[in-house]
Amino acid sequence: MKILMVCLGNICRSPMAEAVMRQKIKEANLDFEVDSAGTSDFHVGEAPDKRAISCMKKHGIDISDLKARQLKQHDFHDFDAIYVMDRNNLRDVQALSPDDISKEKVRLLLDYQSTHDLKAVPDPYYGDDNSFEHVYDLVAEAADHILHG
Ligand code: 4NP
Repeated sequence: MKILMVCLGNICRSPMAEAVMRQKIKEANLDFEVDSAGTSDFHVGEAPDKRAISCMKKHGIDISDLKARQLKQHDFHDFDAIYVMDRNNLRDVQALSPDDISKEKVRLLLDYQSTHDLKAVPDPYYGDDNSFEHVYDLVAEAADHILHG
């Protein structure tokens, strides 16, 4: 199973989701692969946002070596599921989907019965450290849901 996490910049939410997911995959010894990408090219080649790095460090996960990349057409073939963070991402990624099969792979990360009513992972870019902690909580719960139901 190959999973792609997608947000706008690939420097805050999706690298956090990727790294949490990867840690949980390892802990559970599962045969999943995970990567992340952004819909924009704003931060291509950059490391994650400093606040994302420090939030993840607090949770024992080092994401300082990740590099932002932009979503590409090939991703629709390479991945089995593409999880997006918010409705803008959903619209943008669906618009790029080459066919119906690819479009069906795209879904909101929080689009399941969660303990939160939120359907979107809020963009923390203009937020503070608490915004990043909130992102961590949301993506960690979603990762558990994806891996363990
Ligand atoms: P992300 O956050 O989509 O979670 O990586 C953002 C990163 C950069 C920008 C917006 C959101 N930006 O406008 O540059």
